[in-house]
Amino acid sequence: MEKEIGLLEGLMTTRAMRRYSEESVSEEDIWTCLEAAVQAPSGGNIQPYQFLIVQDPDLRFELAEIYRKGWARYEPVIAPKEFPNDAVREGWERNNRATVHLAENLERVPVHVLVLMPSIDMTVHDDEGPMPVGPTHASVYPAVQNFMLAARSLGLGTSLTTLHRIYEDDVRDLLNIPDRYEVLALLPLGHPTGNWGVAPRHRSADKITSWNRFGEKRDREH
Ligand SMILES: Cc1cc2nc3c(=O)[nH]c(=O)nc-3n(C[C@H](O)[C@H](O)[C@H](O)COP(=O)(O)O)c2cc1C
Repeated sequence: MEKEIGLLEGLMTTRAMRRYSEESVSEEDIWTCLEAAVQAPSGGNIQPYQFLIVQDPDLRFELAEIYRKGWARYEPVIAPKEFPNDAVREGWERNNRATVHLAENLERVPVHVLVLMPSIDMTVHDDEGPMPVGPTHASVYPAVQNFMLAARSLGLGTSLTTLHRIYEDDVRDLLNIPDRYEVLALLPLGHPTGNWGVAPRHRSADKITSWNRFGEKRDREH
């Protein structure tokens, strides 16, 4: 039984989990995460997303194959050729081992959650022209994050992944998804084998925050 944690502790320790046991996830827990997801903000409260929960092992295998095909193209291009120091190199290598592990074992994660977004333009126009209040994606990712945080509260791991998008048509074909939807994200959902913890961030809040006018920085006092 997962110990109860507060909201802030939960979100501070929610990170990409890429190693899972094969233990199943209850349908009740999946519903809890979905209900948390739909409570997220969206422009005009229109909720421009749908979820597709994939449990079928054959379909998970096919999804994993599509993901791996994307990974095989992407990985050689993004791998850094050099690192500023050993600590950065070791950090990258650790992360990369987990990423490779997920790619090689994705079908074993008991649930794949696909987040679908209709290809609509939410830009509103008037006589002066378009009013760019935010792309459609901006109304979907809060729901994705809520899903991941709810999973964390239940002791379940997730990782936001998008490599399947390199061959998104194959995903649509496999799962009968109409062309009008983008398959925005694939979240593996399962019981993680690693530990929860606060993930390293190179850009701390103080470095990327201005107060009153851009560029005016403050040190945190306590
Ligand atoms: C838009 C987006 C796409 C991502 N795609 C992938 C992916 O395809 N595969 C993967 O293993 N992780 C993917 N990630 C996860 C990031 O690598 C991860 O969030 C980041 O390294 C921070 O991880 P941490 O919180 O454990 O430190 C993606 C994250 C985002 C926001």
